[in-house]
Amino acid sequence: MTGIQELLLSRIRDVADYPEPGVMFKDITPLLADPAAFTALTDALAGIVERTGATKIVGLEARGFILGAPVAVRAGVGFIPVRKAGKLPGATLRQSYDLEYGSAEIEVHAEDLSTQDRVLVIDDVLATGGTAEASLQLIRRAGAQVAGVAVLMELAFLDGRSRLAPALDGAPLEALLVV
Ligand code: PRP
Ligand code: MG
Repeated sequence: MTGIQELLLSRIRDVADYPEPGVMFKDITPLLADPAAFTALTDALAGIVERTGATKIVGLEARGFILGAPVAVRAGVGFIPVRKAGKLPGATLRQSYDLEYGSAEIEVHAEDLSTQDRVLVIDDVLATGGTAEASLQLIRRAGAQVAGVAVLMELAFLDGRSRLAPALDGAPLEALLVV
């Protein structure tokens, strides 16, 4: 493990039985509160923007907003919010996806993505991959290219990586930590 990985991991708090019994919640608020760790995370993600040649960042509500916005500023590219359905005022593209129980919907402003764009999706955690998969479907429906997906943490035991593979279609999934 690199020094940066050790720093990031040391600032993520495991919370047992939250939000439900049997779930180990990964709380990133200690990392956000530590400027050295938050800066290291932002720099590492900005490096992925550079390596993938992304021209825009899509951040996934809500924690993907917190991580993605400073990366966009650092990398000098635009930031596009993908929101839970019903929160964006303009014309949107909407995508539904399955959750363990039921389903959810996310949206993006249609005018924010064009065929010129090469988009990197940023989020805190890849769990089942359902949220990230739906965001890639939105990006492709808008005609934009997928530069990749970058997350702070990949929960390997849920194998979101396999679920995401078809939607990635060869684009990289980069996880700074695999837990
Ligand atoms: C969490 C997490 C990821 C997503 C991962 O978001 O921040 O966005 O779940 O799960 P998946 O890979 O199984 O789709 P959530 O919507 O729970 O909360 P948030 O609004 O705080 O980001
Ligand atoms: Mg989230």
